[in-house]
Amino acid sequence: MPLTPPLSERGDGLASRSPMPEYIAQHFARVDDDGYTGLAISENKLVWDLLEPRLNSNRAVPSSAIGYDDMAGSLDFRTAVAQFASEHVWGRDVDADKVVVLAGAGSILETLFYAIADPGDAILVPTPSYAGFWADIETRDKLHIVEVPTSSDESFALTAERLQAAYDISPWPVRALLITNPSNPTGRIHTDSEIQEAVTWARSVGIHIVMNEVYALSVLGATSFVPSGRIVDPDQGDIHFVWAFSKDFAMSGMRCGVLTTANEGVRAAVTNLAYWSLVSGDTQHFLGSLLRDSEWVDMYVATMQSRLAASYTATTAALEAAGISYIPADAGLFVLLDMREFLSEPTWHAEQDLWDTVFNDADVNLTPGSACHIDEPGFMRLCFAVAPADIVVAAIGRIHKVLKN
Ligand SMILES: Cc1ncc(COP(=O)(O)O)c(C=O)c1O
Repeated sequence: MPLTPPLSERGDGLASRSPMPEYIAQHFARVDDDGYTGLAISENKLVWDLLEPRLNSNRAVPSSAIGYDDMAGSLDFRTAVAQFASEHVWGRDVDADKVVVLAGAGSILETLFYAIADPGDAILVPTPSYAGFWADIETRDKLHIVEVPTSSDESFALTAERLQAAYDISPWPVRALLITNPSNPTGRIHTDSEIQEAVTWARSVGIHIVMNEVYALSVLGATSFVPSGRIVDPDQGDIHFVWAFSKDFAMSGMRCGVLTTANEGVRAAVTNLAYWSLVSGDTQHFLGSLLRDSEWVDMYVATMQSRLAASYTATTAALEAAGISYIPADAGLFVLLDMREFLSEPTWHAEQDLWDTVFNDADVNLTPGSACHIDEPGFMRLCFAVAPADIVVAAIGRIHKVLKN
């Protein structure tokens, strides 16, 4: 028998270890089980009735949609995206030629960091953070995340002092700062002065700034989101803006992320890699026709935001009734629970035990704070938009029962 040729070293590494966090693997293992409620993945399932008629109606797809086109996205689609996002997301006029679309925010980030940093370089990521950045940044780009810890005691505020401290201790050359605003997992909208301070600091040390604004429209009420391009100069070429259809348009499976940057070199490098993760022509055609229907878009955004707010209100009321503390959120599809009082001791081991109990006994999957690289054990993220409010409230009831025992 001929020997099976081995995988490459990198292939071996990928085959033996998934870059996905463990709680996601656990979710997909249980997703079809009766009685299980997955509240660990950030998706908006509250607006399917608005999307469904558009997705399932007869569509007049032109032949151009099924052939090769501009790798950065068809001009038609980028024009629709630029017009929509200028008005609703970026808060300033951006031309279609400054826009690149790829298969999701994850693809945009992975490709963008490939273009602005070399293997072995470091990226500053404020924590707590979206758990997927480690896969996006470290797996194939071979970069290192250097965490910039922020703390619940200070409302997770990002300061130049904290950025400088992380920069100073990085053993690797720091090439960029990645800011997610609104933040995942805290649901906080950074203040204008925080954004100003962080960008001014990054500019003072001469690194790229990546502004991840994928939750720009998913606001919950009182605090409005101010696009960072209105707070700092967006045209210097050192700042790059990321948005996607996954969260604000509740279409995580459609795979469409959007990059805009004034930096021609960055756009060219990302476009030259786009072939391997582009958005299908059919998807571009569908999303473009959706965006061009401005009446529908206005209805969609208003309805989506009011449903999100209603769900957040029902969720937080249930948490309060259950005696579970949380960090009030301004935006996002989730709320960060402060479950420190339910830990047997303030350790990561005890946090894992608590997660196991909630998962096994209450049949609820929450995102553990450790996956978000939070600075202290006992926090868990609950994604409230992933199911109708009554299901989320029932899940909180089961968590309450388990915690009482
Ligand atoms: C902050 C943040 N960035 C990026 C992503 C990835 O988005 P996409 O599904 O568009 O790749 C997510 C998904 O949860 C996210 O929360």
